[in-house]
Amino acid sequence: MSIKKHDHAQWSSSFGFVLAAVGSAVGLGNIWKFPYMVGESGGAVFVLTYLVCIALIGFPILVAEWLIGRRGQKNPINSFADVAISENKSSAWGIVGGVGILAGFIVLSFYSVIGGWALNYITKVGTGSFVGQDSDAIGTTFDAMLAAPGTLTLWHTVFMVLTALIVGVGVTGGIEKAAKVLMPLLGLILVFILGYNVLNGGFAEAVSYLFTPDFGKLNGDVLLAALGHSFFTLSLGMGIMVAYGSYLGREVNLLKTARTVCILDTVVALAAGLAIFPIIFNHGLDPASGPGLIFVSLPIAFGDMTAGTLIGTLFFLLITFAALTSSISLLEPSVEFLEERTSMNRTMSTIVASSVIWLLGVAALLSFNLWSEFTIMGNGIFDILDKVTSKFLLPLAGLAAILFVGWQLSQDSVRRELGLSDGAWSLWQIVAKFIAPVGVLIVFISSLMS
Ligand code: PFF
Repeated sequence: MSIKKHDHAQWSSSFGFVLAAVGSAVGLGNIWKFPYMVGESGGAVFVLTYLVCIALIGFPILVAEWLIGRRGQKNPINSFADVAISENKSSAWGIVGGVGILAGFIVLSFYSVIGGWALNYITKVGTGSFVGQDSDAIGTTFDAMLAAPGTLTLWHTVFMVLTALIVGVGVTGGIEKAAKVLMPLLGLILVFILGYNVLNGGFAEAVSYLFTPDFGKLNGDVLLAALGHSFFTLSLGMGIMVAYGSYLGREVNLLKTARTVCILDTVVALAAGLAIFPIIFNHGLDPASGPGLIFVSLPIAFGDMTAGTLIGTLFFLLITFAALTSSISLLEPSVEFLEERTSMNRTMSTIVASSVIWLLGVAALLSFNLWSEFTIMGNGIFDILDKVTSKFLLPLAGLAAILFVGWQLSQDSVRRELGLSDGAWSLWQIVAKFIAPVGVLIVFISSLMS
């Protein structure tokens, strides 16, 4: 099928690009998912593995995905395929981009459900529902939300419509503006909650829980969870960073920009951990209680602190914003693909992609209530969508991206593009050719054996 020619937009500045990339990376993965995965996967041992995965696997793959997108200048499938062809390699590499688009599509379906929880909690906290409530009552409120398919569908729909509206506006207008305003605000409110925790106890316990690893708890499952999450949190393996790279100007330094994104993303995740675990320990909650963790812990603090209603409302607003800057990036590859491959314009492409994703999201949210009996190997639809992507599609697509850049592209051209001196280039080669791909493989194999 031929590709329609259209003016391919560019980021208005490299600062705008960093903001948008951080906007994509920082989201529910940091604030909702990271803490509960820490709790489910043995605490500090997960944190440590995750940090190693970010540095040695996530970072080089982020660079690889941008590099492919910047060279290809198209949607992820055609970027992979065109770059491969230009290096006399098989156009079948385009399949990797396709897997990525599919993964992003699936992730957005359940991501939007959680975005809906956050929206719902803006109204709950905002109306003072949690003031003076104990942890049991707060837990009951959360369970009641999960049990109500109508409520979940309503808020999932609102979240999806917001995402589609922003994406429909176009890349420079929608994404950049949103990222510039919303990300710094999130940092501020996290710092505020940290301050509250320092004053209210449980902080030292949380620090030791997050940073003193018990290596006896390390196993293949923990490794795979940490690896999968490092992909999820950096938005890797989903064609997203490839698509963003396609809007990236030549002057942007990929390595420095990737370093900034990795650091900011990690800082936000760790701050979220320090915001949540002191409350968990102070109130005797179970760190391993799963996806509801932030929704049953933070409202306790908001119900207790001075001006908690205001601060809690702001917090859930900001989580929603962070989720939106990520969800718009999840929708972008599917929309860009439809726009370039079919006769649909951007508006139509946005409507079609978001409607199908919305439907899949409804199936996911029903697994918390009406369809809870339907499981495959003990997993409901929500869990299946999460696991298939995080533990399988993302690592595989990421592995392919780094193998492609490390072993298929002319290394001279990669070196020129990264602008590296001799020593740094050798280091890059060791990481990109061996450490990152072998790391992904080891994790896969050890999880199969555990
Ligand atoms: N990386 C974002 C997060 O951690 O919340 C969200 C996200 C964006 C996840 C894009 C996955 C993705 F493909």
